[in-house]
Amino acid sequence: MIGHETAMDDALALLRAGDVVAIPTETVYGLAGDATHGIAVAKIFEAKGRPRFNPLIAHVASLEMAEAIALFDPLSRKLAESFWPGPITLVLPLRDGSNIHPLVTAGLDTIALRMPQGFGGQLIHALGRPLAAPSANSSGRISATTAQAVASDLGSRIRLIVDGGAAPVGVESTIIKVEGGTITMLRPGGVAAADIEEVAGENLRRSDDGAKIQAPGMLASHYAPHARMRLNALQVGEGEALLEFGPISIQGADRAIAALNLSRTGDLREAAANLFSYMAKLDQTGASTIAVAPVPQTGLGEAINDRLARAAAPRDTQLPQS
Ligand code: TXA
Ligand code: MG
Repeated sequence: MIGHETAMDDALALLRAGDVVAIPTETVYGLAGDATHGIAVAKIFEAKGRPRFNPLIAHVASLEMAEAIALFDPLSRKLAESFWPGPITLVLPLRDGSNIHPLVTAGLDTIALRMPQGFGGQLIHALGRPLAAPSANSSGRISATTAQAVASDLGSRIRLIVDGGAAPVGVESTIIKVEGGTITMLRPGGVAAADIEEVAGENLRRSDDGAKIQAPGMLASHYAPHARMRLNALQVGEGEALLEFGPISIQGADRAIAALNLSRTGDLREAAANLFSYMAKLDQTGASTIAVAPVPQTGLGEAINDRLARAAAPRDTQLPQS
């Protein structure tokens, strides 16, 4: 683990050699490899222990780099100009002759692109090539929002973890796809739907509005802690840990074997930033169940509830779902 202030040269050397590096982004930590290098991309899947090759997000340092990879319609360009660098990913048609390795797109003719803030963006700029980077956690487990969480999960499998402190957003990027002038949200995330609607001047479709599966490989059970998750809990049962939200008091809270509040003031941004690390902390208590207080479905609450629902899903569920 190296601090981000001094990690640039080591990170570049590993990436140029086709190796992978865990890097901080504003959303969650990413496990990054050169998106044009097949071996590097294969190493990402290997380190995560992914059950199959899901398409990855390619991260860019500029709109120019993005335009060399994908075809932008006017609305997607407007969203990129408004929200990049930042926690929004755009799914776009892949440009012919782009040098993205097909393992990144899982052979699809579309590609998911995002421009991250901070160290990630600087690293891509210095490398001059896009980085494929899924969240830096082993497959199906909680996404890492600190370098320490990456180390305890993947530390033995990767050579460098760049420490940029706690990820400020705390949930993954919002994934958007524009098709025929309609905007579909494939995954709620770090930019609230309402903020995208305001820029776009139209309403978003949720990907489950139409039954079509748009984000391949999204498993219903994801972000799974070892403990069972019990959502919308209004009271605590014997032996349960408690994940609270806001000032509302939960009946029997003093019975909980451990309790953490995502945000005492009910601030959804603060709650998103704390979500994965608090789930991991409560899981580490060894509680068999984590009772989770209700979280409102507004703003970033949509992304938080999506992640909680996946964490609570039966573990063997293979239903593709976004
Ligand atoms: O915030 C984030 O997005 C983080 C950080 C590291 O940037 N990355 C991340 O990557 O969450 P990952 O691999 O965990 O999630 C990528 C998601 C998957 O759900 C995948 O199905 C979807 O993006 N995806 C990738 N390419 C796609 C495509 N061509 N069409 C539809 N969905 C796609
Ligand atoms: Mg992930």
